[in-house]
Amino acid sequence: MQDYREFLAETLIDEHTLQRRIAEIGEEISRDYAGTDNLLLICILRGGMVFLVDLMRRITVPHQVDFMAISSYGAGTRESEGNVRVTLDLQTNIRDKDVLLVEDIIDSGHTISHVLELLSTRQPHSLKVCSLLDKAERREVVVPIHYRGFEIPNKFVFGYGLDLDEYYRNLPFIGVVDLEKLETK
Ligand code: IMP
Ligand code: MG
Repeated sequence: MQDYREFLAETLIDEHTLQRRIAEIGEEISRDYAGTDNLLLICILRGGMVFLVDLMRRITVPHQVDFMAISSYGAGTRESEGNVRVTLDLQTNIRDKDVLLVEDIIDSGHTISHVLELLSTRQPHSLKVCSLLDKAERREVVVPIHYRGFEIPNKFVFGYGLDLDEYYRNLPFIGVVDLEKLETK
């Protein structure tokens, strides 16, 4: 596996900045959901996992967590094409729950839009979206983002849950890929 330093164009968001912002979002969520004991955080796998575990420890309201995996297929493997499929469904019945979806990044918006449509048919009490990153420039469908960590430019990023061919999710910061320096297999 290539050392990420060989293709890291720049660190877009460093660890300290990420953690500070996540603490703020955690406080905001804790304020907004104060008094609820129906809060369910749904992590969209696999990209959202690192964000979820840091965020949930900043939320002071009692809550449950569950996981969902989505795959998007189409031309490229790194971009969703609007063809979105659930590959792992929830274990929890979300009826009457206050559901908060936890995503790594919203790009075209197709993934989250599909998940919202599906989950709304299951009659949750409320359904909101929390995304660490927002690549707003790339949006193809309008989606609500109730809690947003950072708006980022239209660049391919990795680290902190986001992968490059399933690697580098463990890095504690968000980096930009220099595509010319990235070895293709
Ligand atoms: P959307 O359906 O186009 O909004 O795509 C969302 C999904 O695409 C995210 O959950 C990510 O898995 C993936 N994705 C989009 N942009 C990036 C990126 O810059 N780096 C890594 N994954 C990305
Ligand atoms: Mg993903």
